[in-house]
Amino acid sequence: LSERDLLIVSNRQPYSHDREDGEITVSRPAGGLTAGIDPVMQRAEGTWIAWGDGDADFEVADDGRVEVPPDDPSYTLSRVDLSEAELEGYYFGYSNQALWPLCHGMVYPMRCDGRDFERYRSVNRRFADATVEEAGDGSLIWFQDYHFALAPRFVRRELPGALLAQFWHIPWPTADTFGACPQAEELLDGLLANDLLVFHVPEYVENFLDCVAEAVPGASVDREDRTVSHAGVETAVRAFPLGIDAERTAELANRPDVWPDLAERYGLEGQTVAVGVDRLDYTKGIPERIDAIERFLEENPEWRGEFTYVQNGSASRSEIEAYEYLQKRVDTAIERVNDRFGTDEWRPVVRVDEMLPEAELYALYRHGDLALVSALRDGMNLVAKEYVASQIDDDGVLLLSEFAGAHEELGEDAVTINPYDTRAFADAIERALSMPADERTDRMAAQRRRVSEYDLVAWMDDVLETALARENDRDLSV
Ligand code: G6P
Repeated sequence: LSERDLLIVSNRQPYSHDREDGEITVSRPAGGLTAGIDPVMQRAEGTWIAWGDGDADFEVADDGRVEVPPDDPSYTLSRVDLSEAELEGYYFGYSNQALWPLCHGMVYPMRCDGRDFERYRSVNRRFADATVEEAGDGSLIWFQDYHFALAPRFVRRELPGALLAQFWHIPWPTADTFGACPQAEELLDGLLANDLLVFHVPEYVENFLDCVAEAVPGASVDREDRTVSHAGVETAVRAFPLGIDAERTAELANRPDVWPDLAERYGLEGQTVAVGVDRLDYTKGIPERIDAIERFLEENPEWRGEFTYVQNGSASRSEIEAYEYLQKRVDTAIERVNDRFGTDEWRPVVRVDEMLPEAELYALYRHGDLALVSALRDGMNLVAKEYVASQIDDDGVLLLSEFAGAHEELGEDAVTINPYDTRAFADAIERALSMPADERTDRMAAQRRRVSEYDLVAWMDDVLETALARENDRDLSV
């Protein structure tokens, strides 16, 4: 990876140390981005800066610096310790109650509290300071996500020669929506300290450029080149859709002997199975999905007793009222459908609240006849890609919301749904279940090709190569 040393800055960490029964154990978040970037960091021997959320993180090293992976160290994980008050304001407050709903275009749960923003700013400064301590002018610093909109500006002031890039994992809303945020200008100014800013799809790039043109005085936006010049930095704004490790997913899905036990445990033997896998978040359209299932069973009585929907969802950000409310809505909806149609032998909706081990999750995807991805708005939605990559028999059908970023790549061969349109969603379930086998195979094979061709490595190469190429476009005299 060129001459530059690589630093990653993210909220979540790739390894955490916890205390269990007096012993210190190491755990890794299942799947997801941190697991994907970890091998790159191992090769690059770089530094990763993240929030130390494990309860023994600062016991293993009180300065927060540990060499990882623990059993064969190749890079440094530098942890930032956040106080309760910092966590409240920065994570539960501004990141998840202002930026998360704002960027998903859901202004109803949005709370842009000024005090939360101050915390967000001071935590961004702490991460920036930690970064500057580890980095130099010769570094490539890669920020992840909406937790760090301001940090790039703070780092840029200290390290004018460093290359800065950021990947924004969630959508970017229209200028009209973003304009509702009182801190819009400062957020944009922070992001425009990057040499490269990357979104999943072109629509978010366009929205971002609209926002800059409207809210940042003096910024010059070049629509054709998709660059912005502002405060001495030229930022390239690009779209590279995040991919997954499709090969590994397919291998895991191919493990024999996992499915029969799983099917028995959840009463899925002989059933036609639909799967939904989500963090319990109000952007995922879970109550809408259950409404559609109810309508489907209402209108297609022949499927009663034959069809089971498995909802695998883990609680998330539960301290926030909007999430607590969502969890109650999901509970009520599931109970309603099960009470209405369930029998002694059969429940239409089976809920699996625990995080399944990877091999079980991929077995569920592989044997799921349908996957229901009904996000009301989603930056990408990797569940759609994980389902597709697990379909090694090419016989399942993906029902995919037109409001998920993944629809850009997979929409043509998936069955498109509008989660708000309950009747059409219910019809789509019926249509998917009666789709001829050769059509299912053709569609799934095409989606599987896309997911394995543009995988995690291809995405990472695009981002890092584009970032490094920015070097030649820099004017360091400013
Ligand atoms: C989204 C965000 C990630 C975040 C994940 C889980 O995918 O883009 O940055 O890590 O949700 O949310 P959490 O708040 O638990 O980190």
